Amino acid sequence: MKPITIKPGVSFVGAIDWDRRLFDVLVPLPDGTSYNAFLVKGSEKTALIDTVDFHMSGVLLEYLKDVERIDYVIAHHGEQDHSGTLPKILEKYPEAKVCLTPKAKGIFLDLLHLPEEKFVTVEDGETLSLGDKTIQFVHAPWVHWPETMFSYIQEDGILFTADCFGSHIATNELFVADEGIVYEAAKRYYAEIMMPFAGVIKRNMKKIENLKIDIIAPDHGPLYKRPEFILEAYRHWVYDAPKNEVVIPYISMHGSTKAMVDRLTAALTERGVTVKLFNLSEGIVDVGKLAMALVDTATIVIGTPTVLTGPHPNVAYGAFLVNALRPKVKFLSVIGSYGWGTRAVDVIKGLLPNLGKAEILDPVLCKGLPREEDLKTLDNLAETIYQKHKENGFT
Ligand code: FEO
Repeated sequence: MKPITIKPGVSFVGAIDWDRRLFDVLVPLPDGTSYNAFLVKGSEKTALIDTVDFHMSGVLLEYLKDVERIDYVIAHHGEQDHSGTLPKILEKYPEAKVCLTPKAKGIFLDLLHLPEEKFVTVEDGETLSLGDKTIQFVHAPWVHWPETMFSYIQEDGILFTADCFGSHIATNELFVADEGIVYEAAKRYYAEIMMPFAGVIKRNMKKIENLKIDIIAPDHGPLYKRPEFILEAYRHWVYDAPKNEVVIPYISMHGSTKAMVDRLTAALTERGVTVKLFNLSEGIVDVGKLAMALVDTATIVIGTPTVLTGPHPNVAYGAFLVNALRPKVKFLSVIGSYGWGTRAVDVIKGLLPNLGKAEILDPVLCKGLPREEDLKTLDNLAETIYQKHKENGFT
């Protein structure tokens, strides 16, 4: 296997994981993923940019079998899907120094237990000469850990961005071939991994806006020969106002809560509001699709029956996830049915502290099967949502 040329002296030496279906035992990977690593050969020195997940270390080592010397490993990010093969690389290339941010040094020491003298910390804006190629380091914290950085080859205009701008796609096409397919995967990736740090991503995007970028090379998925495609997509996801949409994650045990969800959906539909339903039952929900819907939605209405005075546990899980992803949602409500008593609304509110700026719209709860007056209250909730979206200019 020979390294795949990106530009003269710069090659792809990563691993494509066609079979993986779950990341972090949490994130679904319907299309597999890749762990991108890059070899940069300058006229005097050679650098490896990131490594691959430990279980695919053989792929990277096979790519490197004819490479006699590596002077530097540029380590953008400590998570093991990129750092996992570093110990094997340092075993094979004992002369190599690992360049990383000061914050990353502690993380790498904790995760990999490597000798401290292997690490060289680099400052934001610092450059490293490989002879005829110059690598510029750009500190980019919180994409999505605190220690992350980008690097940029000045002579080639290639920006390596670690997890940022990535997509979980297994493909042997080095560059994006179908922007529609990659847009969907990159949005899913943004929603699951990057959305909680949208504010920091704005700052990091400002730091790269003056670089002349020919290629963006993330650590997952295909590379971007048209950088504006992914930069523009991120601008929309990060900066745009939410849309005239309502996301309804729900569970129904005996059909009563589902009847309420259906009535609210119908009433919102009549008013021209887009509704996205997510049944949180195991085996049905794709949390990646739920996360994607949260990127744009202005309102979330959680639908839950009451179990032992609280929300259904799957709904609690959904609420916990929504809270962790920190979407730019503006309005929240809860609907659902209970048998004899409930504290579901208080419990759900307690699970959503990160959405504290969102306005809570009056919940609609009913005892048993909803009666006509309950259904009319749901119509009123739909009208309130419609009016709120209109007043705020959400389209
Ligand atoms: Fe792809 Fe945060 O690791």
